[in-house]
Parts: sequence; structure tokens; C-alpha cells
Amino acid sequence: MKKVVLFADPGIDDTFAIVYALSSPELEVKAIVTGFGNVSKEDATENAAFILHVAGREDIPVITGASQPLTGEYEPYYPEIHGEEGIGPIDIPDTFTYEAKPFSHILEVTSQHDDLYFVDIGRNTSMALSFNLYPFIKDSIKEVYLMGGAFLVPGNVTPVAEANFHGDPTATNFVLESGLPVYLAPLNVTQYAQLKEEHVRLLAENSKNPFRSIFLPIFQYYQKAYEKLQPGLEGVPLHDLYTLYFLTNPDKTTIVQKNVQISTEKLTQGFTYADFRDMENNPEANHFININFDYEDFIKNILRRLMGEIKEN
Ligand code: BDR
Ligand code: CA
Repeated sequence: MKKVVLFADPGIDDTFAIVYALSSPELEVKAIVTGFGNVSKEDATENAAFILHVAGREDIPVITGASQPLTGEYEPYYPEIHGEEGIGPIDIPDTFTYEAKPFSHILEVTSQHDDLYFVDIGRNTSMALSFNLYPFIKDSIKEVYLMGGAFLVPGNVTPVAEANFHGDPTATNFVLESGLPVYLAPLNVTQYAQLKEEHVRLLAENSKNPFRSIFLPIFQYYQKAYEKLQPGLEGVPLHDLYTLYFLTNPDKTTIVQKNVQISTEKLTQGFTYADFRDMENNPEANHFININFDYEDFIKNILRRLMGEIKEN
């Protein structure tokens, strides 16, 4: 069982990832830390709380993280992909109320658990801040997983950069230099982790999950955005969902061990730099880049998980 602190900016693919994590017997979500990214920190926080409410898992704390990147630059949100408020067409009722925990609550979570997996499917600002403010919490962490980067392939927000690492490259470098083993799920793999409408229809018809009625409308919203962004795709890449699959199945994927650095220069901001002149592993590097996976296994695995019920505590 992997105990997870999940950093997220829900976000449609974040929503799928959170539901996957809550439905996976291999994972136990101990907290969700929200931050700016696809939407504002406030919307991301409400969305995470709402997802946990629908899941019946209000016992999991929602911790509020960063509202701005460490770069000091304004970062745009992406309403055209994830909707004005972040979960596509889903309108959270005005009557919905929740209580989020302050950032310092991370201390409580890390003091209660060992061997945690810190998993970030958004901008890395909050995770970097947690290591900056409370460096000793690293003793409670086994591994870090990040969705981000694009190695020798085009980016998705600039010609060379992927959105999460572009959003706060200073923070990503801080996490990479934390001394912890960091596993990366870059666009090289997530771009191919495509769900097709037929898969989501299966879920809409057969899932035992409380998200059954939500899966198809949020997927279709996301699909429409991708039809404009990247016309001609057979399915739609679920970057964050893939990252949770990677966390539960690293042995089913191809990983290379190399040092990674992120460009903070204006022109190349967010570019992921690693030496790929050969495919040799660098045994001294603390970074593990996922460069390939078995698509059939991915689809089978995520359908199985999302068909099932939310796990109880
Ligand atoms: C990443 O950026 C966000 O828009 C998605 O939620 C994902 O985490 C993909 O580049
Ligand atoms: Ca995300």
C-alpha cells in the first residue's frame, strides 16, 4: 500500500486522477494539497473538496497551497481546457460548504506517517514550499512523483515546455534538488495515455463509482478542447491519470535514470534538460524518467479501477 500526499490543481485530468487514487487498492490518499494552475487556488480547493464529498471521503484533508509561482511571474489559467471553474461543465452548488486546512497541516500528515509518496500533478510551487519551510518532512517521504516535462519532444504550452514545469520552473528545480528520488511522467508518455470516448461510455454505463454520471460530461468537455488544440488525435491525453497509473505500476513501464534540470530562462522556460546522447542509466542520478509504457495495460488497469467503488478508509 502506497500512502500518498497528492498535490493537484483540479482540473479535468486531475479529477480523473483523484478518482483513480481513491478507487485503487494499492493507494491510500492521506491529503490533497491544492494550488494555482489550471484554475486559481480557490477554485482548485473547492473542486478537490467537492470531489472528496462526492466520493464520501471527507475524512481526507484538503490543504491549501500556493496561489502564485515562485518566479513572481503571472501565470495564466486554462478555462478553455478545464472550464471556467475547473471541472468542465460541472457546476458546484452554491450550498456546498467545506473546510480546508491551512498549509501547516502538512506537518500533521507527515508526522503521522512514514514512507509517504509525494505526488504532484500540478505546478510544483506548494511541494517546493513544503521542502523549503519544513525540510525535515523529507524524512517521512519515500519517493516523489511529478507529472511534467517533455524530453526531446514538443511542449504543450510553448514549443519546448510542458504546462506544469513551465508554470514554476524554480519550484520544480527545488524539488528535483531535494535529495529525494524523483520519478517523472513527462509528455513523452502522458501524451500517449489517451482515453477514447468509447472507454468513457463503458464507465458511464457500468461503473459502480459515484462519479459514473460525471465521467462522460467532463471527458467530452476536455475532448472538445483537445479537438481544437491538437486536431487529429484518436483519443484525449489524461496526463494526471497516467501519473497515478505510473505510481501504482512503475515496473510495467520503461524508466531511465538521468539528472534533470529545468530551464528558468525566458525563451526556454520550463524546458527539461537531460543528457539523452545515449540511453545509459546514470547510477548517480536521483531522477527517474518514464519514457515508455504498455498502452493496453494502462487502459485495462484504469478501466478496472474506475469501474469499481471508491475504497473506504
Ligand atoms: C498538465 O497541465 C495541466 O493542464 C494538466 O492538469 C496536467 O497536469 C499537462 O501538461
Ligand atoms: Ca494537473
